[in-house]
Amino acid sequence: MSISQIFSLRRSRRTVTVAMGLSLMLGLSAAHAQDSTDPGLIAQGQAVATAADCAACHTAQPGHPFAGGLALHSPMGVIYASNITPSSTAGIGGYSEQQFADALRRGVNAQGEHLYPAMPYTAYAGLSDQDIHAMYAYFMHGVKPDDQPSPQTHLAFPFNIRASMIGWNLLYLHGGHPQATPAADGSVARGKYLADTLAHCSTCHTPRNTMMAEDSSHYLGGGVVDGWIAPNITSDPVSGIGGWSTQELVDYLKTGHVPGKGQAGGSMAEAISKSFSHLPDSDLQAIAAYLKTVPAIRNPGDTQPAFAYAGDGKLPALTEREPVLPHGKNGADARRLPDTDDAAQLYTSACASCHQPAGEGTQGQYFPSLSHNRAVGLSSPDNLIQVILQGLDRKGADLAVLMPAFGKDLSDSQVATIVNYVETHFGNPQVQTTAAHVAQLRSGGETPLLMKLMPWLLGLGGLVLLLVLVLLIRLIGRRR
Ligand code: HEC
Ligand code: HEC
Ligand code: HEC
Repeated sequence: MSISQIFSLRRSRRTVTVAMGLSLMLGLSAAHAQDSTDPGLIAQGQAVATAADCAACHTAQPGHPFAGGLALHSPMGVIYASNITPSSTAGIGGYSEQQFADALRRGVNAQGEHLYPAMPYTAYAGLSDQDIHAMYAYFMHGVKPDDQPSPQTHLAFPFNIRASMIGWNLLYLHGGHPQATPAADGSVARGKYLADTLAHCSTCHTPRNTMMAEDSSHYLGGGVVDGWIAPNITSDPVSGIGGWSTQELVDYLKTGHVPGKGQAGGSMAEAISKSFSHLPDSDLQAIAAYLKTVPAIRNPGDTQPAFAYAGDGKLPALTEREPVLPHGKNGADARRLPDTDDAAQLYTSACASCHQPAGEGTQGQYFPSLSHNRAVGLSSPDNLIQVILQGLDRKGADLAVLMPAFGKDLSDSQVATIVNYVETHFGNPQVQTTAAHVAQLRSGGETPLLMKLMPWLLGLGGLVLLLVLVLLIRLIGRRR
């Protein structure tokens, strides 16, 4: 039994009265005197937890709400999200409100262990007292307890030393500014609070530095999540969202698609399905208004917005071929996809039935145009590759959309052939890819520099340690 297991068995059940007494003792705002079993407060907490998308990581598919167990693939290894139901043995039933606040704002759990930043506490550090209080009420009284413990996380040395997060936190955990008075509905200040703290946009849309922390000098300038590009969403009209209207941004966050701009796939599709599509319009308006104020960052090499690209205009006349309708959620019908490397034939068989032979999409754009489409106009082919490999599954506020995954049915070189065809004729002809790059994305994307350097750093660290030891032994020897 590991130390953390022993500790988790010791999680004591504290009564709500104790927690309430504690928060009163700590002199938290008057709102905290509100009874945590108050249905109004619990409903408010549920809305906050939805905006903060706790379920994205803490609910496995299939699995009970918030029972944890979801495996998050970090460059350091697999980190399991915890059970945060009010179970006193497997979950957070024994947490006081202060301990709950510490887990969210400081990344320290009730056992005093440092959490890995896979739990976005650097964003939640800015949570207001009122939002913590409401969420605490929801997690203690609005969520069903589940006694199934989530799997233990075992990272390799040196990441298994949780205390090493203390140093990382000193550098990168900047205490938030819990607000005394919440920002007004629909205001830019409310939008900033939602974007930075609750909806944690920057955890995906800000690039990471060599220590895998957000690079604040490129705030919202574009990051990489699970091998997908989370594009630049600063106010820059060329690289960012400067060319989107506020209403288009609201529609995108609410439904996941805006004709002539783009669609949400990958983890953005998930965030929209589980979180953003449930936010009140005033909150979406506030986020959009705030994004418009974010200082512009121009990505080097960008000359026009990604949605402006519409290919080279030299689409070859396609010979009549029977289109192939893939079926089933997990893939196209492999037997009917031709075994060919001919680009036009592959596109006709795999894509044209929905996106149409000339890539213009269907009327009403349920199957969207591939021209004037951000995913196809970006300066990187990665999101186009990912959507072919993984498909797209999203439930927005308007409708559910599904594009089948072709990962199992197309080889790396066939995917690369289709990507180059689509980029050339419908998107940004300067963007091309190779089978080797498709293979790299299939296997989880590029390894961050820190992880590539780790064997050397460890070797160097070991060498320094050895030198210190030799010196010490010599010193002790001399004294004797
Ligand atoms: C991006 C993924 C992600 C999101 C979003 C997220 N968490 Fe977590 N959370 C994790 C992971 C992973 C862990 C375990 C970290 C570890 O083992 O160091 C964790 C741990 C925790 C813990 C500590 C549990 C314990 O006993 O050790 C609490 C409490 C918690 N999360 C609450 C929340 C709440 C409340 C929300 C929403 C406001 C939330 N989390 C959103 C990934 C996430
Ligand atoms: C879990 C990671 C994640 C979070 C959190 C997240 N995004 Fe995204 N976002 C992405 C990814 C990945 C894409 C690319 C989707 C695609 O092209 O299919 C994206 C795309 C977008 C786009 C479209 C940009 C374009 O150029 O096509 C906008 C706008 C956007 N996100 C805004 C936001 C805002 C605002 C928030 C916070 C309220 C947010 N995102 C939170 C991952 C995330
Ligand atoms: C069964 C119909 C269907 C087929 C076949 C299909 N798609 Fe899609 N595709 C969709 C739907 C639906 C969407 C999402 C529309 C939305 O979000 O509103 C989509 C979205 C996309 C996007 C935007 C993704 C993003 O993240 O922004 C691209 C690019 C794309 N498809 C390319 C392709 C290519 C290339 C092929 C052939 C390999 C293909 N599609 C085959 C239905 C299909």
